Amino acid sequence: EHCFSKKADGFLYCEDVKVQDVMETVEKRPFYLYSKPQITRNVVAYKQALEGLNSIIGYAIKANNNYKILEHLRKLGCGAVLVSGNELRLALRAGFDPTKCIFNGNGKLLEDLVLAAQEGVFVNVDSEFDLENIVVASRIAGKKVNVLLRINPDVDPQVHPYVATGNKNSKFGIRNEKLQWFLDAVKAHPNELKLVGAHCHLGSTITKVDIFRDAAVLMVNYIDKIRAQGFEVDYLNIGGGLGIDYYHTGAVLPKPRNLIDTVRELVLSRNLNLIIEPGRSLIANTCCLVNHVTGVKTNGTKNFIVIDGSMAELIRPSLYDAYQHIELVSPAPQDAEISKFDVVGPVCESADFLGKERELPTPDRGAGLVVHDAGAYCMSMASTYNLKMRPPEYWVEEDGSVSKIRHGETFEDNMRFFEALFDIPLDS
Ligand code: LLP
Repeated sequence: EHCFSKKADGFLYCEDVKVQDVMETVEKRPFYLYSKPQITRNVVAYKQALEGLNSIIGYAIKANNNYKILEHLRKLGCGAVLVSGNELRLALRAGFDPTKCIFNGNGKLLEDLVLAAQEGVFVNVDSEFDLENIVVASRIAGKKVNVLLRINPDVDPQVHPYVATGNKNSKFGIRNEKLQWFLDAVKAHPNELKLVGAHCHLGSTITKVDIFRDAAVLMVNYIDKIRAQGFEVDYLNIGGGLGIDYYHTGAVLPKPRNLIDTVRELVLSRNLNLIIEPGRSLIANTCCLVNHVTGVKTNGTKNFIVIDGSMAELIRPSLYDAYQHIELVSPAPQDAEISKFDVVGPVCESADFLGKERELPTPDRGAGLVVHDAGAYCMSMASTYNLKMRPPEYWVEEDGSVSKIRHGETFEDNMRFFEALFDIPLDS
């Protein structure tokens, strides 16, 4: 079952809580609303899929870095996948076990690698210069670093080019013709580097598990080659990237179980520990962005629903032409006429849309309108463009209570920040 659904009364619910009721009790501004039980269910789905394998679920923090959500995922046993020093600091602060943390990235900075070395997190090697920096970081920290080679397997993930990462011309990872250079470099630094495995990440929003299977076949072949040179590598990290049902068409998409099942035998046959790095598939479907309708207008052949949320709160449609399902939280009158609307925000540019050509009844001013599947890469990519303030976040808990898990940012917060940034006294 899914946490957000329309019930018989025609209202949208999050678990057993009417979204309309939440709107009436919280500040009148756009807000993110999560289901905590859905987060738990998503983790449990991965855990059940992974039964019988030694594994680490490394949650990709970039998808959503709300502190309460991080704590919840950590308590459920997840590790963390980091792509910056600050994400590493946040993960440590949220209590993640460093031995379940993986530091990724094509431009990791030396000072951040030093922290990673001190804390004993896994580090994925991305390039020649990255390897050199890891060696230096190891010496500064006085600690040997567990490294995985991030291999670029040149598998096409069949997704939007902005979220494809494992093609041969992408900026990520190491191509196979360079593998030997890296193995020799590791051998040359026995005090600094311990090679423990191989990593790949193909891209994001992947909806065919065969793609993961193709990559895993290549990866275990690399592992065989690496082992043949005497390295005791135990970890296969297949990255993240499993897609979700953004279109809400009821199409059957692969679940965590399907993903793990396609690699299970390969992993067992080589006696490997499996690391996975899911972001979207753990958190995207647990949340809606709840907006208020400001008004409706028509220009030329276009109808527009203007809402208070925008590309500042949720940029995926503008940036990737991504589809996220939109609906009204209250039932429309029986005889309501359905029209095609572009759902847009108040931000001053035409890239500011949340959805295009959506069939909806004409909403009243103030009506609630949600953008679904907003748990991943939405709040974490929110900005203060046009001086819109990042929204508050709430979740529905197991007992049906609603609590705030992040305050909405205010103009006053920003003024205090400006004061610090520009050395301007507040009331001059
Ligand atoms: N591991 C690595 C090395 C990654 O680069 C990523 C995401 C993940 C794991 C998690 O992937 P996921 O399971 O969430 O697909 N902002 C874009 C998505 C960018 C994903 C970047 N890498 C979006 O909104 O669609």
